Amino acid sequence: MSIPVLTIDGPSGAGKGTVSRAVAKKLGWNYLDSGAIYRAVAIHALNKQCILEHGDVVAHYANKMDLSFECGDTLIVRLEGVDITAQLPTEEVGAVASQIAAHPEVRAVLLRKQQNFQQAPGLVADGRDMGTVVFAEADFKVFLTASAEERGLRRFKQLQEKGMEADLEKITQDIELRDRRDSERKNSPLIPADDALYLDSSDLSIDEVIARVLALVN
Ligand code: DC
Repeated sequence: MSIPVLTIDGPSGAGKGTVSRAVAKKLGWNYLDSGAIYRAVAIHALNKQCILEHGDVVAHYANKMDLSFECGDTLIVRLEGVDITAQLPTEEVGAVASQIAAHPEVRAVLLRKQQNFQQAPGLVADGRDMGTVVFAEADFKVFLTASAEERGLRRFKQLQEKGMEADLEKITQDIELRDRRDSERKNSPLIPADDALYLDSSDLSIDEVIARVLALVN
């Protein structure tokens, strides 16, 4: 029997990370934060001073990078042995990740790396194309979204809680720009899989969303 996969796709700030981690914990399954992989590639490309428009060059470095995830109470991500966990959530890194994610060469290199996360007893995979491309055969699929205003507000509060500087208007504008780039790109655009459960979390609490996703799996 194949190892079960639950995919949770959606735009940035929809609550995918929180929901995916909680559901993975409840089910005792592994968790793949595919956005963190794209973000790590973005940091690597910046470190190597790559021209971000050159997909082949970025893909070359992505292929060779030494990236490791340490899953404990909190996730620790190391790139070439250096802890980059604190750099991952910044808006700058997110914007560069969205840019390099549009290159088909980069996506091709990351495909197998992501599929390797399908380990027993199961996997919750969070991203943009988990249900449409990376785990197109997944048993359970969710598309989680919310209005851009609501997502902007959530990201603003998250950054504030982390003691990071935040400008609500700019965050919402950046989210809209990133939505457009992620949805309109030719390769693996952000679209709901035909067989995904569509959930708009604008008026739902996080616990309600978690309950609906768990109900789908159970
Ligand atoms: O989920 P996130 O905000 O951490 O993702 C950062 C960027 O990475 C996002 O704007 C687009 C890209 N990404 C992607 O193209 N495909 C994925 N499966 C995950 C992320």
